Amino acid sequence: MPRGKFQKREKGGIAVKMIKISASILNSDLAALGEEVNRAEQAGADFLHIDVMDGIFVPPMTMGDIVIRSLRKKSFLTFDTHLMVIEPERVVPFFAAAGSDIISVHAESDCDIAGTLKKIKDLGIKAGLALSPETDAEEAFPFIGLADMFLVMSVEPGYGGQSFIPETLGKIAALRAAVRERGLNTDIQVDGGINEKTAPSAVKAGANILTAGTHLFASPDMAKAVDELRKPF
Ligand code: DX5
Ligand code: ZN
Repeated sequence: MPRGKFQKREKGGIAVKMIKISASILNSDLAALGEEVNRAEQAGADFLHIDVMDGIFVPPMTMGDIVIRSLRKKSFLTFDTHLMVIEPERVVPFFAAAGSDIISVHAESDCDIAGTLKKIKDLGIKAGLALSPETDAEEAFPFIGLADMFLVMSVEPGYGGQSFIPETLGKIAALRAAVRERGLNTDIQVDGGINEKTAPSAVKAGANILTAGTHLFASPDMAKAVDELRKPF
């Protein structure tokens, strides 16, 4: 297992990744989007989490590849694009071309999951598989080794500002155990209702990428809030 600068060894021999913070812009001030992205970058976030909703997979419609392309010119953050769309396979090339560094597609969407993950990787970026709260961890097991990341939704997809669903912690733990069993160290992202109270349990369960929107953007001191999430214990 190669050791990146964000990795350290743990006793069992599998590298443990440092916590990364993905700032979700869904509940930021979308009328000042460019400034909000800069604010997240200045605050020390690692990723920018971009929620793409098509009005079918979930009721709201948010932003598409053209908006991401504009933001790409303004930011060096890793663009973490979360596709909540019914037909992700068709649109992944547009979102890759717009500047996404990671694209996650939903297990519940209407696509050939393995084919879509491969398509994303063939475009030279990382591929994530997202699981809505009702989807069991086992659904993701066949894609361990293919997906670069698993995105565990800890709220129902569609809206920011919801409360963390504690039952999703078991899914994070099951996924972490399953990837470790295979000698891998796949990223596990948790998305929804993350704040300084919920982050520690998500990290304990095995998440290493924490997505937070409302908590970070509503914080009077975003840099402090990012730091607190990064060191949750
Ligand atoms: C919900 C989105 C989340 C959401 C997180 O469908 O996928 O990324 O924006 O926002 P908070 O942190 O407000 O729960
Ligand atoms: Zn999201």
